Amino acid sequence: MSDKFRSAVLRGLARRPRRIPCRFLYDRRGAELFDEICGLDEYYPTRTECALLARHSSEVAMLLERRRPRLVEFGGCTPAKARYLLETTRPRAYLPIDICREALANYASELSRERPGLAVLPIHADFMRPFDLPPGDGPVLGFFPGSTIGNMPPEQAIRFLARVRHQLGRDGAMLIGVDTKKAHERLYAAYNDARGVTSAFILNLVERINRELDGDLDLRNFAHSALYNAGRGRMELHIVSRRRQVVHVAGRAYRFGCGESIHAEDSHKYSMEEFQALARRAGFRPIAVWCDAERLFSLHFLQPAS
Ligand code: AVI
Repeated sequence: MSDKFRSAVLRGLARRPRRIPCRFLYDRRGAELFDEICGLDEYYPTRTECALLARHSSEVAMLLERRRPRLVEFGGCTPAKARYLLETTRPRAYLPIDICREALANYASELSRERPGLAVLPIHADFMRPFDLPPGDGPVLGFFPGSTIGNMPPEQAIRFLARVRHQLGRDGAMLIGVDTKKAHERLYAAYNDARGVTSAFILNLVERINRELDGDLDLRNFAHSALYNAGRGRMELHIVSRRRQVVHVAGRAYRFGCGESIHAEDSHKYSMEEFQALARRAGFRPIAVWCDAERLFSLHFLQPAS
């Protein structure tokens, strides 16, 4: 990972505009901070999606015609969310996929202890790249919660979904959590929380560069910025230089102007219709969509179109 991180950072700092892929926000500290974000008052997605799962998971089981699926979770390790589907769909096996071997192993053994009857088959993989699902019986139900799909540009999301559609097979299905478009103030608050946890999460990338790549970036000289880009329908999160400065990473020098930024993450928001159109372009047929009364978050049930 460290080699990949190194080349992504050096490449990202040399290009204009500067950009580092958002997956590098999630080292151990980043993952802890993200967990904290999920519990913030301002960050509505997690609790809203959990409420939707609590309310509609039994309908998911009905849409599967009560056939017991193999439940494949993309970016596994979210027990609070998977739990609803484990109860209502009674899967033959639960296959969480995650890139972090350690987190995956801990999660799988904890879950096996809690639910001795459940076959837990962890898959250590980067689900953004092709990988094989082990063979097994029953339809595959893919589960991709948290609106992580929103962190991909739309064209990449379509390519990802098209590949997943092949993996699911013809009688598979996909359940995806997607954050919706809404009042900009609400979005702004969710990514600029009062306690500064999101800021710490984004700026942890600066600390990670210092820790792992022998960087000398002074945290006091950088700030977190999160703004809604209405034209692109996404929150854009940046690390902004507060002054003119030269920093060093892995022995190389990088010059920043005041206000110049490193683009650290995008979080796309989709109306329900927009996401259904995107899913169709990936070869899926939208079967059902659920949302809360305030239309803050949506849960899409999709099946391969053919
Ligand atoms: C993981 N992902 C869906 C989060 C989001 O809302 O885009 C990441 C996040 N970044 C800052 N806050 C939350």
